[in-house]
Amino acid sequence: MAADRITIIGSGRMGQGLGRALAGAGYGVTLVGRRQRTVPSQLLLHVGDWPPVTRSCDVLLLATPDDVVEAVARRLTDENGVGSDQVVLHLSGLLDHRALDSLRPSGAALGSFHPLKSVAEPGGAKATDFAMAAVGIEGDDRAVAAAETMARRLEMIPIRLPPGSKPAYHAAAVLVSNYTVALVHMAERIVHEAGLRDERGMFQRLLEGTVANMASMAPHEALTGPIRRGDAHTVEAHLASLSPGDQAVYRALGLEALRMAEADGLSPDVAERLQAALTTGDGSSRS
Ligand SMILES: NC(=O)c1ccc[n+]([C@@H]2O[C@H](COP(=O)([O-])OP(=O)(O)OC[C@H]3O[C@@H](n4cnc5c(N)ncnc54)[C@H](OP(=O)(O)O)[C@@H]3O)[C@@H](O)[C@H]2O)c1
Repeated sequence: MAADRITIIGSGRMGQGLGRALAGAGYGVTLVGRRQRTVPSQLLLHVGDWPPVTRSCDVLLLATPDDVVEAVARRLTDENGVGSDQVVLHLSGLLDHRALDSLRPSGAALGSFHPLKSVAEPGGAKATDFAMAAVGIEGDDRAVAAAETMARRLEMIPIRLPPGSKPAYHAAAVLVSNYTVALVHMAERIVHEAGLRDERGMFQRLLEGTVANMASMAPHEALTGPIRRGDAHTVEAHLASLSPGDQAVYRALGLEALRMAEADGLSPDVAERLQAALTTGDGSSRS
């Protein structure tokens, strides 16, 4: 039987965003908040004792900060807030189902459901479209089955995460999503420091073109630039223009790009020159 009633503890960015998406997919969704606030009209907000709403759903989602997931699970145990016929999933990328272990005696199925989607604006229109986003899933068999059903109804792509993989999986996701944002910020700072004051979103548009390329190509096919071409002098000049802190980021990502270029046929002598520039050079040795 499809689970139709979902309660979400945590009425922040993901609680509201995922809640709206689930409501759009036909679920009845109740948010549990710590205070009264305006929430999207498709959602009910409950502020008060937990058991009346945490026991009356098929799937209970914990959309709280990662650091309080274990404490929330303990509170649910102490208040007898979950029964054996229910499924409890938290949304953390780092933690796995063991963060919910205090709920074992309840007999509920435990797992995690981590949407690979950045929800920056609680309740905003962009927050509700989860279709085609991947979602990392793991846990007890019954919890995984419920999570996969939810993913299918949201038109998401479920990815089963092997035991012990979540810290590396989440680190990789943070690199792609959060650190891309940090890279754009870093690029804007670098050109500001070089005297450019009016970049007018040029790096965001550059990034959009790169992302569009990757929609139809593997990363190694989408890689362009001096490392793919073998332009060691260009790399040396870049390093010479950067502060030591910015050089460290450039070198680390440059070495990853170099490994891709080598695998894609860059000649060994050019690769050796680039390796030297990226690991030891500071640009001052340009010939
Ligand atoms: N946002 C994303 O892009 C994203 C993506 C993937 C996964 N996630 C996961 O989703 C979860 C929630 O993240 P978020 O970005 O939605 O965080 P958020 O915007 O900070 O929202 C967290 C919510 O949890 C509530 N809360 C905090 N401590 C609580 C407690 N002890 N008991 C009950 N409620 C508590 C907060 O209540 P108040 O409003 O009263 O402070 C807030 O509404 C995290 O596990 C995160 O890893 C988020």
